[in-house]
This record gives sequence, C-alpha cells and structure tokens, in this order.
Amino acid sequence: MKPTLDEHIQRDPRVLRVYLEARRRYAEFDFKHHNFIHVMRDLHRALVIAADQGSVNYDILVPSVLLHDIGFCTPDFKKLGHDVAGARLAVDILKDLDYTDDECAAVGHCIHAHKGKAELPRTIEAQILYDADVLEKAGLVFLIWGGKVISEFNESIHHFLKREIADREAEVARGLYTRKARELDGGRLEKIRAMFLQIRKEITEERPDYEITEDDLWQSLPP
Ligand SMILES: [Fe+2]
Ligand SMILES: [Fe+2]
Repeated sequence: MKPTLDEHIQRDPRVLRVYLEARRRYAEFDFKHHNFIHVMRDLHRALVIAADQGSVNYDILVPSVLLHDIGFCTPDFKKLGHDVAGARLAVDILKDLDYTDDECAAVGHCIHAHKGKAELPRTIEAQILYDADVLEKAGLVFLIWGGKVISEFNESIHHFLKREIADREAEVARGLYTRKARELDGGRLEKIRAMFLQIRKEITEERPDYEITEDDLWQSLPP
C-alpha cells in the first residue's frame, strides 16, 4: 500500500506543523532540484523502507526527512555544507514546534549524517534517511535531473561530474544500510557512476567539440 502522512499526523499533530513549515521554507527558495518535491520523493522512499524494517521511530524519521535539505535555505550552507547548516536550522525550527531536546538531537543527527560526510548515520532513522536520499541518484533519470542540479548551483559540467562521481564512488563503497533500499537500487547507483565516468571521458577525450566556446572560433577575442 502507498504510504501516506495521515496516520503520522493523527499520532503526532506536530508532524503537520513541521510539514507546513518545511513546505513554506522550501517554496520561498524554489530550488530547481532540492525543493519540496524532492523531499516528497525522499519521504515516500523513507516510509517504504521503514515499513520493511523492524522498529522505527517515526516521530524522528518524518521530521528528519521533511527538513533534511533545509540547509539550502540558509546562506550558511556554502561555508558549512547543507548537512551541517541544515541540522542547526532544523533544531531551531523543531524547538519552536514543541520538540524535546532529545528529539531535536535525534533529528539533528539524521540531518547531519544524511550525506555520510559530516558523520556516518548511526541510528536506524538516520540510515533510512541516508538510503532514501541516495536512492534519488540511483536511476537513469538522474542523468536528466543532473541538469537541474547544474542549473541550481550555477556550476560547470566538470564541477558537477567531479562531485557526483566522487559521491557515487563513496556511496557504492559504503553500501546502502537497509535491505529495502538495496532492493530498490538494484545496481543502479553503480550504473550511474559508470555513466558519469563515460560522459567525462567523452567530453575530455573523445568529443572536444562539446567544449567549444565563442572564443575558440576566433584567433584573438571575439568582435
Ligand atoms: Fe541533502
Ligand atoms: Fe535531499
């Protein structure tokens, strides 16, 4: 059955307030890829993975997923990383929504660890968020969505490929934490890694014509 938020809001009405606050903040920035739709895809995956696990604390998992990329909504993310900046901002948001210190710490850990960079996910809720977010990249469709990421960050294709290849290599080496996530991946993460390598080889070694700019068509500067 398709998982929905209704039962979680019935059990814990604070979830609705987190949902509305997260949706409002992501909408303010309206990012091309790291927006509320991405969060909804992650949330769906997280609930599917959680249903396959034993005991999961949904009071921690659901707000963690809803706020996991909120770091992009603060200028601090450029300096700190959106995982670190997001964990801080999420704790501030949740304190105002009547979450206890322990709950804030648990959500903070999930968001801090969701890239597997600032720290590795230690709790099952953090591992589910990590897996749900990594799975966003584990499909051929990410070759197309990658264009949205390039546009959102206003970066070169080389910069994008450098980061994404390194991230996929680390994720493949680390492996996914949950059985359901490994099933959903089905080897796609490795396939995307290989395809990004192929694209990099193509534009650097085989097809330099793809790198041509206006300057290349002139002996000195363009008129
Ligand atoms: Fe993220
Ligand atoms: Fe994300």
